[in-house]
Amino acid sequence: MPGDADRAEGEGPAPEPFDAVDVIRTKRDGQRLEPAQIDWVIDAYTRGVVAEEQMAALAMAIYLNGMDRTEIGRWTQAMIASGERMDFSGLSRPTADKHSTGGVGDKITLPLASLVAVYGVAVPQLSGRGLGHTGGTLDKLEAIPGWRAALTNEQMMNALEHVGAVICQAGSGLAPADRLLYALRDVTGTVESIPLIASSIMSKKIAEGTGALVLDVKVGSGAFMKELDSARELARTMVDLGSDAGVRTVALLTDMSTPLGLTAGNALEVRESVEVMKGEGPQDVVDLTVALALEMLAGAGRPQDEDDVRHALVGGRALDKWREMIAEQGGDSRAPLPVAREREHVVADRDGVLERLDAYAVGVAAWRLGAGRARKEDPVQAGAGVELFAKPGDVVRKGQHLMTLHTDTPERFERAVQALEGGWSIAAPGTVVERRPVVLDRVD
Ligand code: URA
Repeated sequence: MPGDADRAEGEGPAPEPFDAVDVIRTKRDGQRLEPAQIDWVIDAYTRGVVAEEQMAALAMAIYLNGMDRTEIGRWTQAMIASGERMDFSGLSRPTADKHSTGGVGDKITLPLASLVAVYGVAVPQLSGRGLGHTGGTLDKLEAIPGWRAALTNEQMMNALEHVGAVICQAGSGLAPADRLLYALRDVTGTVESIPLIASSIMSKKIAEGTGALVLDVKVGSGAFMKELDSARELARTMVDLGSDAGVRTVALLTDMSTPLGLTAGNALEVRESVEVMKGEGPQDVVDLTVALALEMLAGAGRPQDEDDVRHALVGGRALDKWREMIAEQGGDSRAPLPVAREREHVVADRDGVLERLDAYAVGVAAWRLGAGRARKEDPVQAGAGVELFAKPGDVVRKGQHLMTLHTDTPERFERAVQALEGGWSIAAPGTVVERRPVVLDRVD
């Protein structure tokens, strides 16, 4: 077919092969989209030929009527084809990456990237900033004096070859169709659709070019997926997409009913990650980091013994790698981290056992304290967040601090405390509160 450049002057642009309204009607009426329709609609949307309101209508039709495996695969490939693909085949090390669907206190990427790199596997972590109640990895790392998120492709390759782990900002060239579509879904009530979430995440991860991928699919109040069944369906869909695209992919379903670790907030989470690597961190963060590392190492063809990996995490080898990784991106890992100017405490109102500490409530509180942003362009406070002193199942005494709230702007305390109301409860002394394991299931 002749391209626009081959057309005679005055002929105008080539006619489009489909009409957006027909594509919308097909999905609205519950039918399958043809591969050529999918390729066209994603490409035409990226070119600005399909209007925002038309894509919004199609996203809603997909939200309501779903897509089958073939459609989701084609949709994902079309989003990948909208931009560039990275290629790590020139590295001397195999690559493995992790993606979390997002949670409260989820700082796992920080110790995990360092830990996996200890074993000679390169970790190309292209991350984002936080929006809403879940934190963003780049916001956390930017709490470290001097650290920078933006790297050129060449700097990234160098760091992967010489240090082995990079956590940096994803360039705008990877799956640009997803960037447009995700922003549109955000304002049209169409985020919570398994086909759309799965294709959004996997288009970026496949375009990134990792050889192996471990998905951390969060389940619970602080996650997209509140129930195990829907989380399992999301995991299955993403694992199939990855495997079909030649990426060795597995998913762990992990608990997000309560925050991970004892901190939610940028500098607070960096501090806790370093404590983990010094052998002084909370058990759930250690356990999840080890579980994900074992999967990444196996996926990259370098399976390891669990005890050795645990020891590398808490015994100093991961910490040495962390220091190298931070220095490579201009950061000073030994400099003091920012501390918020103001603090307020939430105290236990009776003796008993902490029965519930809701991840969503803590995430919203941290966000309102200034750790997160409501709009993409908002700044975050490095020192803001919530520090926890008890987890579900712990014995607490009346008057003891359950949490400390940190912010630079004390007028934020009131709304943060409101967010926590009803978010925790204390049961009578002696009540047995079941502690949920952090890893709930595995999908491969
Ligand atoms: N994260 C993404 O990248 N896309 C989604 O649709 C949801 C979470």
